Amino acid sequence: MDCDIIATATFGLEAVVAQELKELGYSNLEVEHGRVEFRGSPRDICLANTWLRSADRVRWKLAEFEAKTFDELFEGVKKIPWGDILPKKARFPVEGKSVKSQLSSVPACQSITKKAIVDSMSEKTGIRRFEETGELYKIEVALLKDRVTISVDSTGPGLHKRGYRPTGSPAPLKETLAAALLQIARWKADIPLIDPFCGSGTIPIEAAMIGTNLAPGLKRNFVSEEWPQMGEKCWKEVREEALSKVETGNDFYIMGYDYDPRAIKLARQNASRAGVEDVVHFQEQELEELNSRKKYGKIICNPPYGERMEEVKTAENLYNKMGKTLKKLDTWSFYILTAHPGFERIFGEKASKKRKLFNGNIRVDYYQFFGPSPPRR
Ligand SMILES: C[S@@+](CC[C@H](N)C(=O)[O-])C[C@H]1O[C@@H](n2cnc3c(N)ncnc32)[C@H](O)[C@@H]1O
Repeated sequence: MDCDIIATATFGLEAVVAQELKELGYSNLEVEHGRVEFRGSPRDICLANTWLRSADRVRWKLAEFEAKTFDELFEGVKKIPWGDILPKKARFPVEGKSVKSQLSSVPACQSITKKAIVDSMSEKTGIRRFEETGELYKIEVALLKDRVTISVDSTGPGLHKRGYRPTGSPAPLKETLAAALLQIARWKADIPLIDPFCGSGTIPIEAAMIGTNLAPGLKRNFVSEEWPQMGEKCWKEVREEALSKVETGNDFYIMGYDYDPRAIKLARQNASRAGVEDVVHFQEQELEELNSRKKYGKIICNPPYGERMEEVKTAENLYNKMGKTLKKLDTWSFYILTAHPGFERIFGEKASKKRKLFNGNIRVDYYQFFGPSPPRR
């Protein structure tokens, strides 16, 4: 069975997600605002969930049609063969969103969609009341300029939840964004990497996972594992194949430093939960002590930017120190994510390239300072 699959992405990361999909072997990708669409089978839903590093979640698209009235919405939803898709006991809550569309009441769109699904299921099964105690199919009705997309979430908790960061711990940088920062910087396993402000270790850990080809979804579960469409076998095969692709034994230089000993302790614990403790090295260190004998490496980091006045002042002093300290590494390239609009001025250099991104709801810039290219071997 072929189906349309949507990998959703945070603003600014669509091209990174598309590149990841290309590297996984998918073509004919449709890249749009906040999403990349491609065709595949239920097995590809397992693969995308297991392997995508920068996407937020993977949705199975069931239909797309135009609707300007509730009748059109009802009919469009009812046409989907729900009786073949949802098991009899499935739970099917409906979420919604509406942007620039005549049907602007989201609660109304949700209830019409739910009613159309129930009607369609009733006609197929003869059942009038559904228990909804079984497998979870979280449906989304999304309207954009009167075009309706009906999809179902196959991921569950967002893809950034790899399972190595304990729930409830502060999350200054999402794992998906960290993976994207590494890919935008074109970091590869043979390039030295330092994060001088590693905090809980997200950037070095994601690098270690990329470097060892460790699938980011290998250590977690997905809501679609209980769907009959995939079946246990499909997930088992995808996981076994991912396990067989882990590459160890390479020589890595992936360092994370932070002046806070609690951060270093947490980073080490996270690395060990992720299974990359032998690949990364974390050490307590103040920025000004930063140095390396390695050449042509990459510094990738998100230094603090501060919200309150005195925090902003501290951050600015730090950026000034960064300008002086990082320049000692004269063959290295620097990639710095910050929300501070005056970063380049305080750092003392204009970035080679700048990319607008979002860290959660915060608008940030990814400043890229390219160092010299290494001599050809
Ligand atoms: C925004 S957080 C980085 C979050 C990190 N990417 C993560 O995944 O948790 C900034 C970090 O910089 C550290 N830091 C601040 N000033 C520093 C300095 N002068 N030298 C070293 N680390 C510093 C803080 O302790 C904090 O952990």
